[in-house]
Amino acid sequence: MSDSDTRKSRVGRGQPAPRTGDRRSGSERRTHAAAPPKPERRTHQRRTGRDRRSETGWQLVEIVQTVIEDEGQDSLLLAAAADARTRAHAQYSNFRVGAALETPDGRIISGCNIENATFGLTLCAERVALVKALSDGEAVFTRIAVVADTEAPTPPCGPCRQLLWEYCGDIDIILGNLDGPTARYRLSALLPLPFDRRLLG
Ligand code: THU
Repeated sequence: MSDSDTRKSRVGRGQPAPRTGDRRSGSERRTHAAAPPKPERRTHQRRTGRDRRSETGWQLVEIVQTVIEDEGQDSLLLAAAADARTRAHAQYSNFRVGAALETPDGRIISGCNIENATFGLTLCAERVALVKALSDGEAVFTRIAVVADTEAPTPPCGPCRQLLWEYCGDIDIILGNLDGPTARYRLSALLPLPFDRRLLG
């Protein structure tokens, strides 16, 4: 009896082979032991990000804010940020922001947000002020002011916090709106566990 005859008599001519979940070809089955069945995908256990957050008690962290005191130059810095804000290119979000960085000798370098049709290439006001200052040769900074036309303070976004930490260290961040200061933070309060060059070994 040929090999093919043997096989036919085992499974029965015209009968479908039993569905074992083994998807290997006939010759593979003959020459290799069956692989252990793959675990089933547990689709019914898939949870959304929101489910996970509520299970783990993931919530927005409340950040301690220091008392707002005008330490002399705050109003000057806020005014420079508010002035830069008028030059914002915020044609997509309509959210205009101005920032102003101060150097130890009192120089003020400002920036505004600059948007673009790709959205993703948007530059925040803080980053514009920072790159302007760095490319002008400034290397030490004492404070930054950020102004938006909102009641609630507008803090720097995550990437800006990272860049401010890199180039300014633990500076004061003065937040304000068109009426004046609204909050003041140390950068370390907004970026409590920074990644920086110390961790590069
Ligand atoms: N934006 C800033 O320029 N700085 C901030 O601190 C928050 C957000 C800009 C980016 C974008 O052009 C617009 O505000 C809306 O996110």
